[in-house]
Amino acid sequence: MAVALITGASRGIGAAIATALAQQGYKVVVNHRNSAPQADDVVAAIAAGGGEAMAIKADVTRPDDVSDMLQRISERWGGVDVLVHNALTPYDVTSFADLSWEQLGGKLDTELRAAFLVTKAVVPGMMSRGHGRLIYLSALLSRRPRGGMITLGTAKAALDQFVRYVALELASHGITANLVAPTTVEGATSAGLISPERLKTIAASIPMGRLARPTEVANTVVYLASDASGFTTGHYLPVSGGFGME
Ligand SMILES: NC(=O)c1ccc[n+]([C@@H]2O[C@H](COP(=O)([O-])OP(=O)(O)OC[C@H]3O[C@@H](n4cnc5c(N)ncnc54)[C@H](OP(=O)(O)O)[C@@H]3O)[C@@H](O)[C@H]2O)c1
Repeated sequence: MAVALITGASRGIGAAIATALAQQGYKVVVNHRNSAPQADDVVAAIAAGGGEAMAIKADVTRPDDVSDMLQRISERWGGVDVLVHNALTPYDVTSFADLSWEQLGGKLDTELRAAFLVTKAVVPGMMSRGHGRLIYLSALLSRRPRGGMITLGTAKAALDQFVRYVALELASHGITANLVAPTTVEGATSAGLISPERLKTIAASIPMGRLARPTEVANTVVYLASDASGFTTGHYLPVSGGFGME
């Protein structure tokens, strides 16, 4: 049975991804930073549905935490076949006028540091097996700017290009690397930072007339984790109800 590691899976989109992958038969690692009770709830719900999961506390911006997490996974289940890097490090909603370098540089640092550490940790095992799936949560904001989202949008744009370079280098090793880019997702934390009026305006700007659902993001991840997506790498897949189509 293949093993999937989902970073930041104690709630929101990550929890939906963990649940969806477990339903497909993956053994699932529910990573969290500081929310053990919620992570345990996700694990219990997966077990109740007949799936297999374990929660691991690890701050993915810290090298020692990441290597300890991989050690625990390899002791119990071997290696990681699918990495879904979903964890959302904090960011500030601000205009450029009010933006400080600490806010922008800090978000760039945590966004890329986390992606770098988790990718470095899983790739050697994938290379030795000649197979792997790397999936990263971007955001439509990385291509379509929206007022106030300069820190997140810029950091996700940097993540996008990092992933393309990873995809290029690993393509000949049977490892794919892709990005899933949702528009605002209903019920998720980021949506909680936006006023109800603004959420209505965002929903109205989407051709399908509503926000994305966590399960829709999760189903896209399931496809990219599967063998069915094996000839797709280095790509950016919007889950946006037609918003930002090219
Ligand atoms: N929500 C949206 O509308 C939306 C739209 C587009 C893209 N996205 C992307 O989708 C992903 C998930 O977003 P979300 O809204 O579901 O996030 P969320 O509800 O805020 O959940 C974030 C998760 O990340 C974990 N986390 C945070 N910092 C961590 C760290 N340093 N190490 C390990 N885990 C950490 C949290 O665990 P703890 O509670 O333990 O800290 C939590 O499980 C993000 O990459 C986000 O940018 C979201």
